[in-house]
Amino acid sequence: MQPEPTLTSSQLTAGQDWPADRYAAHARFVADLASPVVDLLAPRPGERILDLGCGDGVLTAKLTALGCSMVGVDGAPDMVRSAVARGVDARVMDGHALGFGAEFDAVFSNAALHWMKADPDAGIAGVARALRPGGRFVGEMGGHGNVAAITVALVAALNRRGIDGAALIPWYFPTPGGYRSRLERQGFVVQQIELLPRPTALASGMAAWLHTFAGPFLHNLPAAEREGVEREVVELLRASLCDPEGHWTADYVRLRFAAILQP
Ligand code: BEZ
Repeated sequence: MQPEPTLTSSQLTAGQDWPADRYAAHARFVADLASPVVDLLAPRPGERILDLGCGDGVLTAKLTALGCSMVGVDGAPDMVRSAVARGVDARVMDGHALGFGAEFDAVFSNAALHWMKADPDAGIAGVARALRPGGRFVGEMGGHGNVAAITVALVAALNRRGIDGAALIPWYFPTPGGYRSRLERQGFVVQQIELLPRPTALASGMAAWLHTFAGPFLHNLPAAEREGVEREVVELLRASLCDPEGHWTADYVRLRFAAILQP
């Protein structure tokens, strides 16, 4: 079996470009589809909750409106600026190196943990440090098989140009068993963890999705070649992810979990 290619942390974040206006225009569905994981969190008024990977703070603000005392962290300064403008107590922080100590009732994360590929254990260790004993870690991320067709198309288009596309995959999409083991090793008791296929309608289409999320595959290419790859990927995917009426759906698979930090 081939070993997994290992990329350094800075290689993995290269090309991750998060302009808040682009995210708001093409990725609002990320927050809009988060009700099930918010329900699993079951936030109670007065709880102090950390939103790990808060992005532009739309969900963080919703949790504040439910009476929670929220802190948001994200690695992308432009997203944090947007969250602060929304009134969120948001800070720029690397999710691999959280700087909190036993101060939260819960840590919540939606659609962010799969970007912390460099060292998932370091991310979970930071969550464990941030929680008071008995605190909960509730999240949803891409799980095994997430955006598989999109990834194959990107890798194929790059391989055709002599670039090792697989080595550029910036995402970590674990299985329930794999993530459960990591949580347990850091002192969590896992209450629930499951994979949920969730085909996701892309109102802005596939080209906009690639533009928003596939930067790490494409950022080293000259602009003209980048556009050529994006067009090729869109055409490779059309038969499977675009319906006859021209509506695109992404092949999302969520990993949703709830765990308690052992007192
Ligand atoms: C996700 O939320 O599953 C996801 C978002 C962007 C790129 C890859 C996965």
